[in-house]
Amino acid sequence: MKKVEFRYLSQEDIMDLDIGWDKIIERIELAVSEQAKGTIENPPKRGIHTRDDTFIHEMPVHLQDADICGIKWVSGYPSNYKHGLPQILGLQIMNCPETGVPTAVMDCRWITAVRTAAATAVTAKFCAKKDVARIGIIGAGVQGKMHLEVLKKVLPGITECKVFDVKDNVLKDFAVRMPERANVSVFPQKSVEDTVADVDMIITCTQKLPRPIIPPGAMRPGMMGVGVEAGRAWPEELIHGCDKVITDDIEQTSSYATTGAFAGGIPEFYCQLGDLVNGKPGRETEDERIMVFNLGLAACDVSLGQLVTDVAEKKDIGTKLTLMERDF
Ligand SMILES: NC(=O)c1ccc[n+]([C@@H]2O[C@H](COP(=O)([O-])OP(=O)(O)OC[C@H]3O[C@@H](n4cnc5c(N)ncnc54)[C@H](O)[C@@H]3O)[C@@H](O)[C@H]2O)c1
Repeated sequence: MKKVEFRYLSQEDIMDLDIGWDKIIERIELAVSEQAKGTIENPPKRGIHTRDDTFIHEMPVHLQDADICGIKWVSGYPSNYKHGLPQILGLQIMNCPETGVPTAVMDCRWITAVRTAAATAVTAKFCAKKDVARIGIIGAGVQGKMHLEVLKKVLPGITECKVFDVKDNVLKDFAVRMPERANVSVFPQKSVEDTVADVDMIITCTQKLPRPIIPPGAMRPGMMGVGVEAGRAWPEELIHGCDKVITDDIEQTSSYATTGAFAGGIPEFYCQLGDLVNGKPGRETEDERIMVFNLGLAACDVSLGQLVTDVAEKKDIGTKLTLMERDF
């Protein structure tokens, strides 16, 4: 029997690979394109729920055209800040599609953080007006920060970001770190209302909310609105009253019908994100108001996980561990 080894990659190992947004966006486009074409095996997310309002989800996938496979095992615990821990964390395993052998075990927090923001960026390439200059971000945590960075890459005309968070320390950290990281002027705000006034795009990245917080009049003609927390921040008037609603996976998003995530129920979707990548027009007029609710695709995690594995192999970063070397 051959010795079987896999590579272990911590979050810091992955960050040391220095994978830039261009490559991340390419991997997201590959994944959503296959999802929309139906060339993926991607059973619906299953999960366990050890405390109220928590989840640990399994997310296995095979991208058939790219022949990439793996699984993410990710947890969401909104009260983790009380323990000095992030809300979202977990592991991802990549496998060889020929033999099933695990090739890498890695942190999935970085992958989740960047792939979620990159999915918004891909949507913005097709659905935002090209002259977006000022954006409003509600929720200045991990997603708030990643969104500002990657949106600046696809919409380089962004010069100003208004931002609000209920936690003063998080808001302060955003204001200190993000101007240099994203090359955008940052203006911390005292309320949601102030943050969404006179901006060209609104992104909400809060935790689960008991009720919507975005004022119905916030979306002027031509704007794009993004609800990263499964749309909980958005009122019925906007979820159901805009010109187009985009999501990454209609079937998966529709399964949130009973969770209370979408005020007024699941909206009628214009198309899936991958349809835009595959050629369906996104924004068709300057005045359209477009809402985006990408809930996160395992295909994106696994597509990006393969890139992480390949770059780590090339740069020899991470720790090689032995899975087995002797027969019984
Ligand atoms: N769609 C996806 O694929 C996907 C992927 C990852 C995370 N998420 C979701 O995105 C959201 C943000 O995740 P994160 O990792 O950035 O979490 P985070 O904890 O780092 O940041 C969330 C921030 O929102 C703030 N917040 C909460 N309620 C608020 C309110 N009413 N007004 C203003 N700010 C408020 C919190 O203080 C916190 O700083 C979560 O709901 C998470 O479940 C979605």
